[in-house]
Amino acid sequence: MFLGLDVGTSGVKAVLEDEAGALIASAGRPLALSHPQPLWSEQNPDHWVEAVIGAVDDLARERPRETAAVRGIGLSGQMHGATLLNRDGRPLRPAILWNDGRSQAECAELERRCPELHAIAGNLAMPGFTAPKLVWVAKHEPRIFAEVAKVLLPKAYVRYRLSGEMVEDMSDAAGTLWLDVGARRWSEKLLAATGLGLDHMPRLVEGNERSAVLSPELARRWGMGADVVIAGGAGDNAASAIGLGAITPGDAFLSLGTSGVLFRVTDRFAPAPQAAVHAFCHALGGLWHQMGVMLSAAASLAWLARILETPEAALLAPLGSSVDRPSPVQFLPYLDGERTPHNDAHAAGALVGLRSAAGRADLVQAVLEGVAFASRDMFAALARSAQPITELDLVGGGSRSLSWAQIMADVLGVTVHRVEEGEVGAAIGASRLARLAATGAAPADVCRKPQRLQSFEPRGPQRAAYDDAYAQWRKLYPALKECIS
Ligand code: XUL
Repeated sequence: MFLGLDVGTSGVKAVLEDEAGALIASAGRPLALSHPQPLWSEQNPDHWVEAVIGAVDDLARERPRETAAVRGIGLSGQMHGATLLNRDGRPLRPAILWNDGRSQAECAELERRCPELHAIAGNLAMPGFTAPKLVWVAKHEPRIFAEVAKVLLPKAYVRYRLSGEMVEDMSDAAGTLWLDVGARRWSEKLLAATGLGLDHMPRLVEGNERSAVLSPELARRWGMGADVVIAGGAGDNAASAIGLGAITPGDAFLSLGTSGVLFRVTDRFAPAPQAAVHAFCHALGGLWHQMGVMLSAAASLAWLARILETPEAALLAPLGSSVDRPSPVQFLPYLDGERTPHNDAHAAGALVGLRSAAGRADLVQAVLEGVAFASRDMFAALARSAQPITELDLVGGGSRSLSWAQIMADVLGVTVHRVEEGEVGAAIGASRLARLAATGAAPADVCRKPQRLQSFEPRGPQRAAYDDAYAQWRKLYPALKECIS
């Protein structure tokens, strides 16, 4: 048995897989976010640990025999979150998360301090990443900064509490802006630009390598043996890729979770920072990936559902399984700022083209299309730097909507596949990494592609209409920039 643990932003997921890779059971615990000031987004690191232990307790209660048979654990987690620990390994303040936008000014400062940053880290300095958050802490909370002994990412903090070991995997480490992403090792130069050194960093391993062993106390609590291996694991997007079998250069998927991610596997370090494309290590040695990230994908629909006090399913129902033409209303989905391609933490959303005839369905459709147009922006950004993407898997909560999947195919002009198990993808990826670490199996034998449930082809007339609508939509951000950012 293998256990996959995903430390997400809105909750923790735990899955049990058997030796043949079949999903046996899953459990979850919610997590709360705190926004003490505009643009801030924080969580208490100990809540991740409590949620993980609670979720595994649930599995142990429901499936005691299977849980006791676990011989490998894999971790996946929300990326970038700065978890600052003192000399005793205790958090010094709440973790500053990936969707926290407070450190825009520090990004510029960091790029000034280290002109080679783009070349070494393969990425623009963006407020979502870890290094600018530390520059912010040094400036605004100098007493805390002075006490920082280690900086861990969320899942590395959970690993530390599960095992006592401070270790990070390459895919997550790549999102700190302290990694030499091409060479897969910490960069002293990048660390020095933040006032840190190698001592502040955990040890590095690949995602499918052994990183630690579960503590005897927790092994006893869950009835497990003495040598439960913890794999390096992966940042949630690389873990989803492992879950989707995306381990061959060119494989691509689009995830419509809270954030939206367009992910493509590459056989080399392929930075394209000008368009705010992320170039990170994959969770397997010798592979990298490129990624476009938008900050409010399914979150945009969740926002509309919240303010209209209507469940998402009821909002989507009038659209049926597909729409015939673009909505007369257009939506910029920058509710929490934007990364690819604008790198603008201050950007806000907008609804444009409202007339008295506009109805609720027009707004719902505008939101789905706005996310699809922003995905096309990411698509264009990735297309500049490697072979074209001709098909992609659609995963995440947003993939449940058939009309959204068809809009994506029409707007992006590629075949879009809905696949099985999209919603626990990162946790499945984590458990596969556990299997690789515990058994030494070949990745190609373990990282199989999931069953395709349904495929959506771009439809000729709609494609043409969406080309026009996208051309119109693209003018909105530059035209409104002064008002919305
Ligand atoms: C990736 C990113 C998000 C988080 C969400 O760069 O910031 O996808 O990993 O969990």
